Amino acid sequence: MKALVLAGGSGTRLRPLTHTLPKQLVPVANKPILFYGLEAIRQAGITQTGIVVGATGPEIRRAVGDGARFGLRVTYLEQDAPRGLAHAVSTARDYLGDDDFLMFLGDTFVSDGVTGIVDSFAAGRPAAEILLAKVSDPRAFGVAELGPGGAVVRLEEKPARPRSDLALAGVYAFTPAIHDAIAGLRPSGRGELEITDAIARLVRDGHRVTGSMLTGWWRDTGEVEDLLKVNELILRELEPRTLGRVDAVSTVSGIVVVEEGAVVRDSRIAGPAIVGAGSVVEGSSVGPGASIGPDCAVSGSEIAHSILLSGASVTGARGLAWSIIGRQARVAAVPAAPTRRVVLGDHSRTEI
Ligand code: TTP
Repeated sequence: MKALVLAGGSGTRLRPLTHTLPKQLVPVANKPILFYGLEAIRQAGITQTGIVVGATGPEIRRAVGDGARFGLRVTYLEQDAPRGLAHAVSTARDYLGDDDFLMFLGDTFVSDGVTGIVDSFAAGRPAAEILLAKVSDPRAFGVAELGPGGAVVRLEEKPARPRSDLALAGVYAFTPAIHDAIAGLRPSGRGELEITDAIARLVRDGHRVTGSMLTGWWRDTGEVEDLLKVNELILRELEPRTLGRVDAVSTVSGIVVVEEGAVVRDSRIAGPAIVGAGSVVEGSSVGPGASIGPDCAVSGSEIAHSILLSGASVTGARGLAWSIIGRQARVAAVPAAPTRRVVLGDHSRTEI
C-alpha cells in the first residue's frame, strides 16, 4: 500500500501566512503540521509516499526532502492548479499504478494516527474506507450516511441539510476502483473535482464503501482558530523538558518544553507551552497554549493561546491571545504614543 499526501491547495483561509509559507508547513508546537501526518503514515507501516504539490512545491520539497528522515521514500507529484482533491488523485495516477493507497490531507491532524484505518481496510478490503468523525455542525464537511451494516449508503459534500453528523475527516483508503470513479467526474459548483463525489459514485455503482470511526480527535488546520486549537492539543501531549536556561526567579508550571539555547529570565511559563531554540523570554508571562518558535524575542509581554513563528518579536504587549505572528514579524506596545501604527501585509488582520 502506498500513501498519497495532498500538500497543494491555495490556503486562502490562512492568509497572510500562506502568502509566504505553504499551509502544510505552518508550525504547530514548533513542528510543521505536515510532519505529524508523515510520521503517522510511517507508523502505519507505509513507506512509499507520493506528495502532491502545487505552487508551493519547492518549499515542501526543501522541508521534506527525500523523506528518509521520516523513514519514507517520497515522490513529488505536480498538480498544475488546485482543482480539487479528486483532481489531485488523478495527478498521481501513474505513480499509484494498480496499488491500494491511503490518501491523507496534508493540513490535517489525527490524534490516533492512521494505523486503525489502514489495518481495517487491509482486513476487509472494501473499495474504499473513509475516516469518519462526529461533528456538531456537519454543513462545512463531506457528510456520510451509514446503513444498518455500517456500510456507507450516501455521501454529500457540504450539504445544507445534513442527513447525519458524520463528517469525512480527511483520511481515506482506496483500491484502484477510485480511479474509474474519478474519470467520470464533472467539476462541482465550486469548480473542483470532489473526492466525495467520486466515493459517492463508488457507492452508487454497488461497490462496498465502509466507514472507520475516529476514536481520538481530529482537525483540519485550514483556519486560524483551528490551527490554534490543534496547537494547544498537541502541546498538551509533549514530554516536558528543559534543555535551555531558565533562571531562578522564573516559574515553570504544567507541560513546558524549553528547547536548546532558549533563555527564560524573570518570567512565568504556564504549560502547555514551548519556547523554541535560541529564543529569549524575559519579564513575560507565556502560556497556556503558546508556541514560541525558534529565535524569537519576547519581553515585558503576556502571550497565551498563540503561535509565534521563527524570529518574531513581541515587546511590552499585554493580553496578547489567540494570535499568530509570522516570521520576523514585530509587535511592540508603545504606551505613551497617542496613535497606533500598524504595517500589515496583504490579507492581514489585527484587533486593536
Ligand atoms: P483544502 O483546505 O480543502 O483547500 P485549500 O488548501 O485550497 O484551502 P483554502 O480553502 O483555505 O483556500 O485542501 C485540503 C488539503 O488538500 C490541503 O492540504 C491542500 C490539499 N489540496 C491539494 O493538494 N490539491 C487541491 O486541488 C486542493 C483543493 C487541496
